[in-house]
Amino acid sequence: MSEALRLGIAGLGTVGIGVLSLLEEQRALLRQRCGRELVVSAVSSRDPQKNRGVTLGAEIVWHEDACALAKAANVDVVVELIGGSDGIAKQVVETALNSRKHVVTANKALLAIHGGALAALAESADRALCYEAAVGGGIPVIKAIREGLAANRFDNVYGILNGTCNYILTSMEKTGVDFNEALSQAQDLGYAEADPSFDIDGIDTAHKLSLLTSLAYGTHVDYPSVFIEGISQIGALDIQFAREFGYRIKLLGMARRTAHGVEQRVHPCMVPLGTPIAEVSGVTNAVVAVGNYAGQSVFEGPGAGAGPTASAVIADIIDIARKKILPPFAAPFSRLERLAPSPMELRHGAYYVRLTVVDQPGVMAGITAIMAEHGVSIDSIIQRARAPGEGVPVVIITHETEEADMNRVLAQLAALKQMREPPVRIRIEKL
Ligand SMILES: NC(=O)c1ccc[n+]([C@@H]2O[C@H](COP(=O)([O-])OP(=O)(O)OC[C@H]3O[C@@H](n4cnc5c(N)ncnc54)[C@H](OP(=O)(O)O)[C@@H]3O)[C@@H](O)[C@H]2O)c1
Repeated sequence: MSEALRLGIAGLGTVGIGVLSLLEEQRALLRQRCGRELVVSAVSSRDPQKNRGVTLGAEIVWHEDACALAKAANVDVVVELIGGSDGIAKQVVETALNSRKHVVTANKALLAIHGGALAALAESADRALCYEAAVGGGIPVIKAIREGLAANRFDNVYGILNGTCNYILTSMEKTGVDFNEALSQAQDLGYAEADPSFDIDGIDTAHKLSLLTSLAYGTHVDYPSVFIEGISQIGALDIQFAREFGYRIKLLGMARRTAHGVEQRVHPCMVPLGTPIAEVSGVTNAVVAVGNYAGQSVFEGPGAGAGPTASAVIADIIDIARKKILPPFAAPFSRLERLAPSPMELRHGAYYVRLTVVDQPGVMAGITAIMAEHGVSIDSIIQRARAPGEGVPVVIITHETEEADMNRVLAQLAALKQMREPPVRIRIEKL
């Protein structure tokens, strides 16, 4: 049997403890699969006194300074499970690669912002930089796109990449509660952070999408170009109307290579009921990859949690133990392409628009005139409630049109004196 692979684990929170537990509980299975022992030789965390529910053996070195762990002589692989795009997590990963250690991380924020530079550093050090756990938790989607589907050109890659948002949208549909109530339930259940903005504003989804885009299209990670819109403007009414029209609302991250460059968007979508993505509920994540030879592959599973995330982290460690070291993205760093972002204004598709307008004669005529002026044709329009002089919802589904025209329409509608609330726009995706 080969020499043991020595692991230094920086961060002993949800994922770090999950990794320690899995390594302990599945020791024999991992030894058999790797052909060598995986041993934890060092750990680091902020608070040495905290009860973490695990016993650390006397042979494990505790480092107060995670960067000291990252360069320790008794560590072969640094497992960064601290989090955050900058600060200590970035220092740990850079120190590890500069010290010629392999790195495994679950940190999508770090890779979305600094993935290019870190990949270049890993390649020049001839070391692995692995991040299966950074997208889709326990779902092995990085491997699937980088390895299993590597022979394909991708027409389309999209997914539900944030369990918190999917939980909120599912709960709004199942119980009829509004967004704030669903968010607060998610917080009570531990599915949403006290500060949920990274999740509900779409930032976490965008971090993950930028990694998938690079893997699928062989491009540099380009997080700043992702178009991002979160879910906080979605109302209980939108959920109900979506169902009536045969759709369900999902926060999707979508990537596509177009004639204009790379399109990366994160926003709530109406997706047709019955499609695989529409049926993904609760905290579950899913990724759909459409390859030109493989066709459509759907990956679905738990997107977070100690067990699933540890499973993905350890899959990366197993690769390193087996000496399987690949470029971090789709190709060696020097061969990644730098493509222009495809402008969001070119998005072509149908739209759902909900307006809250004063119920008075002539309002509908005004709305339809604005749409006609910009060449946006209406598929259906509904005004159900009647409350003369009060704000009532008017819901419009358009035929396919361009985002730029919709932007002009919505700007003009928002300025109408009868408008009581900002218009809500949800893009309809055919998928
Ligand atoms: N939780 C999930 O389900 C999940 C899923 C996929 C990916 N991830 C990613 O995995 C990473 C870890 O997430 P998590 O949920 O495990 O976070 P967490 O529970 O907040 O744990 C973070 C750990 O980092 C430690 N830490 C903070 N600052 C440190 C420092 N300066 N030096 C050393 N240790 C430090 C903390 O120490 P103390 O315990 O001493 O305070 C804590 O143990 C993040 O990048 C996250 O995005 C998480």
